[in-house]
Amino acid sequence: MDSRNGSEVESFFESAPSLKNANIVSQKLKEFIDRNSRSSESGGPIRVVCVTSGGTTVPLEQRCVRYIDNFASGYRGAASTEYFVKAGYAVIFLHRLGSCQPYCKYLLEESFLDLFELAEEDKIEVCQSHGAEVKKAIREYHAAVDEGQLFRLPFTTIFEYLQLLKLVATSMSPLGSCGMFYLAAAVSDFYVPWQSMAEHKIQSASGPLDIRLTQTPKMLSVLRKDWAPFAFCISFKLETDPDILLQKANAAMNKYHMHIVVANLLATYKQEVIVVTKEGKASIRKHGEHDDVEEQLVNLLVEKHSEYLEKPETSLNGA
Ligand code: PMT
Repeated sequence: MDSRNGSEVESFFESAPSLKNANIVSQKLKEFIDRNSRSSESGGPIRVVCVTSGGTTVPLEQRCVRYIDNFASGYRGAASTEYFVKAGYAVIFLHRLGSCQPYCKYLLEESFLDLFELAEEDKIEVCQSHGAEVKKAIREYHAAVDEGQLFRLPFTTIFEYLQLLKLVATSMSPLGSCGMFYLAAAVSDFYVPWQSMAEHKIQSASGPLDIRLTQTPKMLSVLRKDWAPFAFCISFKLETDPDILLQKANAAMNKYHMHIVVANLLATYKQEVIVVTKEGKASIRKHGEHDDVEEQLVNLLVEKHSEYLEKPETSLNGA
């Protein structure tokens, strides 16, 4: 991390409004990680992944009426969480409040009320046409929760997201190379620092609005170097121009010391992703209408994590 980014990181955390319930969240995280870091029945260590999902908002007022948002729905993170649970991982699902949730992917297209109908004596039943998928979702969701494999942590703003990411990463640090970060959230690259933000609703009577946005410090290098130096780290790179995608993904891998960068284009991200590693690249494509790229992607990452566990590298800070 260069010293400029280092001081920007420090000032970001110093000036951010404090996280609500930080002590409670920290305690619950510790319990979840402790429970899951005990050996599994097969004797091997349990792996824990932090999946980040959805987009962060940038408030324009401290008493926020307006904010800048982005397109991310949280589908990728929610679907990937299901496949990580299936692969035996314990998942910390750090997600945008109100975004797509694991085991509820189909709720994005359906109205919640379309799933139910009134039966005799005013009893509520799931419609026959949705019965199989709702049953499967309930079964899998409860299994994940009952087995203690899923911990959900919501955020809305960029301030909450980065403070929670730090908390999760430092809590996962004792897991060493059994920890994984799967950073699929679309994180705001620019924000309004809290101290220079208007307190009250910005008034339209004051004329056109000029806002100066500050660059959000890149946290990937801090995560790799300081917060969880032995964890296996996967970041995502989204672009709209196909001509620069791979170059940007490679640059992110080298600059932030990511183990893997998953590159995707806005126009095709639901159909294709490219997995970029130091050894080369592999394209993953959706086969049929009813499958998703996340299943193949997660299976490949689980394999890569297994290889990493056999020969983890030394940490970047020399520890
Ligand atoms: O949620 P969906 O609708 O399914 O969409 C999924 C997705 C397209 C959002 C996802 O596949 C994806 O590409 N996510 C990353 C998009 C992004 O924000 O790219 P970026 O170039 O801005 O950031 C690259 C990486 O740096 C990200 O992993 C991000 O978590 C991280 N980052 C970004 C800014 C910042 N200040 N600190 C960071 O750590």
